Amino acid sequence: MTSTSLPDSLIATLPGSSYTDPGVFAQEQERIFEAMWFCVARSSDLPKPGAFRTVDVGRESILVTRARDHAIRAYFNVCRHRGAKLCTEETGEVKRAFQCPYHAWTYDLSGKLVAAPNLTKMPDVGRTEYGLVSVAVREWLGYVWVCLAENPPSFEEDVIGAVVERLGDVESIERYDVDNLAVGKRIVYDVKANWKLIIENFMECYHCATIHPELTEVLPEFADGYAAQYYVGHGAEFGEEIQGFTVDGSEGLDRIPGVSQEQDRRYYAITVKPQVFINLVPDHVIFHRMYPVAVDRTVVECDWLYLPGVVESGKDVSRSVELFDRVNRQDFDACERTQPAMSSRLYAKGGVLVPSEHHIGAFHDWVLERLGTRQP
Ligand code: FES
Ligand code: FE
Repeated sequence: MTSTSLPDSLIATLPGSSYTDPGVFAQEQERIFEAMWFCVARSSDLPKPGAFRTVDVGRESILVTRARDHAIRAYFNVCRHRGAKLCTEETGEVKRAFQCPYHAWTYDLSGKLVAAPNLTKMPDVGRTEYGLVSVAVREWLGYVWVCLAENPPSFEEDVIGAVVERLGDVESIERYDVDNLAVGKRIVYDVKANWKLIIENFMECYHCATIHPELTEVLPEFADGYAAQYYVGHGAEFGEEIQGFTVDGSEGLDRIPGVSQEQDRRYYAITVKPQVFINLVPDHVIFHRMYPVAVDRTVVECDWLYLPGVVESGKDVSRSVELFDRVNRQDFDACERTQPAMSSRLYAKGGVLVPSEHHIGAFHDWVLERLGTRQP
């Protein structure tokens, strides 16, 4: 409990300043985003050696690339000479090396310093010692996660464990073969709201009946029934008349063959703290990554993943994409409506959570523990 002044059935939220104070955001960058596994790219965004992407993780810029051995590597995007940002583009491709635009120190794809003007006259500069500094990398579900911590937490516990906790076992997600699906659509949303408002919104379905008419049409139990509001996507069943997870309930795309009988005609939603949301339906997977940019701004990148044959054949995925694109816009509008009021004097002590939002209370406790402002 974050407050003792309320009846047991009601839980206080975080105070408004948690969503507006740049000092709190700086702590979250250090103790959450720079300390945990953070999803930075779809592996297929880096199709061959030299393809790269730069991503801000907490306060650091990270350079993610595919090396000559085809393994994905990630480095601090900081030149070892005098600290210039090595790579200034968000995505691109180099042939065999990254060259700093300042004094032309050059690093190969495995991070080794391979050339620098006059380097031979400076024998003390070790080429490995002054190579790029790498960060831990893991690939799972066809996505690249990095961790900036010197001793990264267990990926199995923190990332895979979050999925297992929700679905019961790891096979339940493996059946969707997420690694091998193809990106049918990617939409990037620039949301003027704190990252926690977006997570909190994703975790509850109390709002579904109010703001998601299309989603509640497809998943009728989201519209009524108190129990359904406890979990977003605990395996919610499609309505009887519904043929597929599309904006008008019309037929979807080719079903992913591994999906079990039990998973068919159902929608599952998973939150992997601190910045990934995964939605599973029989014919596609919707994969969100949040990139917190500032205390009041978060970029959300969302992929719609289908069987490769569906994408290659150019089948029309638009009705399928439109359903969750609308849901996203409805959710992010709600978050953007909430953000300005976080600085209202009326919200200084926060609000309350009704019982069906108890996940949010657990999330707040988790945030406070990470920040060290509450004892576990
Ligand atoms: Fe990069 Fe000098 S700062 S080469
Ligand atoms: Fe929603």
